[in-house]
Amino acid sequence: MSWIDEKAHRELARIREAREKQVYPYFREFEAGGLHTSIAGKPVVNFSSNDYLGLTNHPKVKEAAKHAIDKYACGLSSSRVQATTTEHVALERRLAAWFGFERCLTFTTGYQAMLGALMTLADKDTTIILDSLSHACILDGTFLAAGVPGKAPEIRFFNHNSSKSLERILKTRERPNAIVVVEGIYSLDGDTARLAEFVEICGRYDAVLLVDDAHGTGTLGKRGTGILEDMGLEGKVPVVISTFSKTFGGIGGILLGSGEVVELVQHTARSFLFSASLPIPIVAAASTILDMLEADGPALVAELHQKARYMRDALVRIGFDLGASNTHIMPVMCKDERKTLFMHIALLECGILMVPITYPAVKQGEERLRVNVTRGHTQEDIDRAIGLLETYGDAFFVLSGEEIGPLEADA
Ligand SMILES: Cc1ncc(COP(=O)(O)O)c(C=O)c1O
Repeated sequence: MSWIDEKAHRELARIREAREKQVYPYFREFEAGGLHTSIAGKPVVNFSSNDYLGLTNHPKVKEAAKHAIDKYACGLSSSRVQATTTEHVALERRLAAWFGFERCLTFTTGYQAMLGALMTLADKDTTIILDSLSHACILDGTFLAAGVPGKAPEIRFFNHNSSKSLERILKTRERPNAIVVVEGIYSLDGDTARLAEFVEICGRYDAVLLVDDAHGTGTLGKRGTGILEDMGLEGKVPVVISTFSKTFGGIGGILLGSGEVVELVQHTARSFLFSASLPIPIVAAASTILDMLEADGPALVAELHQKARYMRDALVRIGFDLGASNTHIMPVMCKDERKTLFMHIALLECGILMVPITYPAVKQGEERLRVNVTRGHTQEDIDRAIGLLETYGDAFFVLSGEEIGPLEADA
């Protein structure tokens, strides 16, 4: 056995143990696309999906992707430098106009868009200031930037969503330029950024605010353009990053900013220049969803909000703790790893998928089920999910908060 085999065996102990106890919850294999799918031959309603407006499987979206395959196949065999199409450019122009920015650049993933933006914009004269609950792509972009010899920015963190803590960091930063990165909606907690406060503070300290609105796109603001629209802050944030992997039904990253800032990223970002370009069936799918948002955005968003409000009211009435959530992302806090895993398994047996989020994704004692209400869930799906959550929340002491004693699965 080489040392990598030994390392793998040693570091997989926790996962082996979960499998032995039959509580390993990840990488479950869907047998069909959409919110209504099946796992191991059993129908399942997915309540951990990010298909927030339920448009991913719309027949028009699939049709557009099929047409695009006929014209461009599934790949362009190169990066955008030598594999840009009129479809890429047309979609970028439309997205810039819809979001209200001068320019847009699409990446192959949102993760790459964040890496590319941070590595381009930050240098040794920059302090990157991050919310303590930042998404992995923000952390990784920052750490990559820090690893570039001779260019490393200073890295600082502020307390989650705290403008007071942010201000303290801005005051004590060691580099002349500052980039503050926040998320529109935090994906594991479902709370929105205090963006108006951050805009004001960044203005006073001459800092650039970069918003990752992956979860706000399609869900916030009357038209669904995101947190800037929702909070009346259009034109006040210089750079926004989003994704096609949630509301936009596919995969891909969106960078929005001024003409020259976006052009600089286009000519500098290694995650853009050295990775294959977005396949055109995906561009066609996103363009079709953009058609729908342009035509019916307010109605689609209103329907999502109505369903989310219904679910929230019911869960709160039953007595669940939804943490800091004020959106359609409403984690059901179980605050114990075993309770979370048992809830997940019991719900799945009944055809409801709510993925458990446990340490190290969240702190110990903050374990929860990932519960995302989407426009694609039916009233029946939502009522069934609420009923089952109540039953098992009671059975596994999530509602009472009592200690859970040993169960068969612990034997
Ligand atoms: C907050 C946030 N930012 C960025 C991303 C990355 O997006 P993508 O799936 O397009 O790589 C995600 C997706 O998980 C996310 O939740």
